[in-house]
Amino acid sequence: MSDTTPTTAPWWRQAAVYQIYPRSFADANGDGIGDIPGVVSRADYLQALGIDAVWLSPFYPSELADGGYDVADYRNVDPRLGTLDDFDEMVSGLHERHIRVVVDIVPNHTSDQHEWFQEALAAGRGSAARERYIFREGQGENGELPPADWQSVFGGSAWERVADGQWYFHRFAVEQPDLNWDNPEVRADFLKTLRFWSDRGVDGFRIDVAHMLTKDLSEPLPSQAELDAMPQDGNHPLIDRDDVHEVYAEWRAVFNSYDPPRTAVAEAWVSTPERRAKYAHPDSLGQSFNFDLLVADFDAPSFRSIITDNLAQAAATGSSTTWVLSNHDVTRHATRYGLEPLNGRPVKQGTEWVEAGGPADWLDREGGLRRARAATMLMLALPGSAYLYQGEELGLHEVAEITPDQRQDPGFFRGSEYDRLGRDGCRVPLPWTTEGSSFGFGTNGAHLPQPSWFADYAVAVEDADPDSTLSLYRKALELRHRLQTDEQLEWIETGRDDVLRFRRPNGWEVITVFGGEPFPLAGENVVLTTAPLLNGAVPADTTVWITA
Ligand code: GLC
Ligand code: CA
Repeated sequence: MSDTTPTTAPWWRQAAVYQIYPRSFADANGDGIGDIPGVVSRADYLQALGIDAVWLSPFYPSELADGGYDVADYRNVDPRLGTLDDFDEMVSGLHERHIRVVVDIVPNHTSDQHEWFQEALAAGRGSAARERYIFREGQGENGELPPADWQSVFGGSAWERVADGQWYFHRFAVEQPDLNWDNPEVRADFLKTLRFWSDRGVDGFRIDVAHMLTKDLSEPLPSQAELDAMPQDGNHPLIDRDDVHEVYAEWRAVFNSYDPPRTAVAEAWVSTPERRAKYAHPDSLGQSFNFDLLVADFDAPSFRSIITDNLAQAAATGSSTTWVLSNHDVTRHATRYGLEPLNGRPVKQGTEWVEAGGPADWLDREGGLRRARAATMLMLALPGSAYLYQGEELGLHEVAEITPDQRQDPGFFRGSEYDRLGRDGCRVPLPWTTEGSSFGFGTNGAHLPQPSWFADYAVAVEDADPDSTLSLYRKALELRHRLQTDEQLEWIETGRDDVLRFRRPNGWEVITVFGGEPFPLAGENVVLTTAPLLNGAVPADTTVWITA
């Protein structure tokens, strides 16, 4: 087989998928908020990057209580972001450029502005409208206490009282009431939504908190401490229940009624790779995010065992694995790898990060980016699909310089289990040029403040620099297509526990030096390196790709 033989495997198995956070990508009409026409205007950029698909975070009508993950209407575009016609234009523009389109489905909860929730509030207790959500009477003499002491993911009680005295459950923000997945109307409506977007040409779906939809709310409700102590083995009342796959079996039937079948990837933060595999099963969603590298330190033995385990899991289910280093929920990996301990998240550093008003001395910017480039190039050489988050191709760091009054993330305000700073720092609008009110993001400012150092990372700067992170990503993504003829990976022992080396199809090899002394080469044909070689050796925090 020559190394240019096209693969006949389905496109998603080894796709490079680029996540667009639409409000922060490109603003076409100058209102400071990124929009769908903005994506259209940057379609050539996406094509030149060499990705196979884009995944768009929610662009649906929303009050933005949680960055769009509070959806008020699942079958429409937020008027601030454009229209359905704009959406269609985007899909055809991307398809013309051979870029597939994946959209985000948020089935665990709606926005409190959704017409169903408004109807539930108006209709009162005992109504069919309330049955679509999770309403309960409170405890205490007058029902003045919540039905249980459950905590929301963003901090504070997970139960909220409404005017007539009943309480509703919200796993996330108060503005995100959980749906009742025992309700047939809820189930039917999501099938309609999946068909709606599939009919518009969408190629796949990313399923938000896919492991939380179904619940066992039999009384008496357990306490939070009891919930925390229960195993997450498929029978937990709230998390990763086996019966959620009955929902996805119905979805799968819809996906498979299209040609080609629509794809889906689960966002499921579950307890083990075995639990994750259930979502990746071909009768369920088909693929599931694997966040193991994202939560790992930059460390050779950890990377090696994560890669080995996940490839074995993928082989066992027939799915392909997925790799992620950054997304809209976590501190950017260039920054994580520049903090002590290496993968340290700002939350561990307390509030200094906020109070300093900028990255303090303990952030090693250069080292962090160098390690990020090495980790990403290792990731892009692995079998499976790779998810990239907008801005990482520029080597962007997390933005710390956002004052509390400029922040938007509900997690920040309620002191959540997420980073104490919240997630705004990775959601700052992209710098396209070195000047203007928003570095070319739009013509009239940006909805989150961009720091002055963004100019150094602008697309216009990196585009012209062959050594930039952007140039590195472009080159790697182009070369990567030649790696996709099979999904094999074979480890080559290096005799060092800080150096990983593996072989891929057609004589490709990848070496990553995680630290320590340079690793000497023996005259191999290096086609890509994340940092200059030192006398023919691969230096610390560097990845090289080698061809036969
Ligand atoms: C997912 C999203 C996150 C959102 C949450 C609630 O984890 O990635 O951004 O806040 O779900 O919808
Ligand atoms: Ca706009």
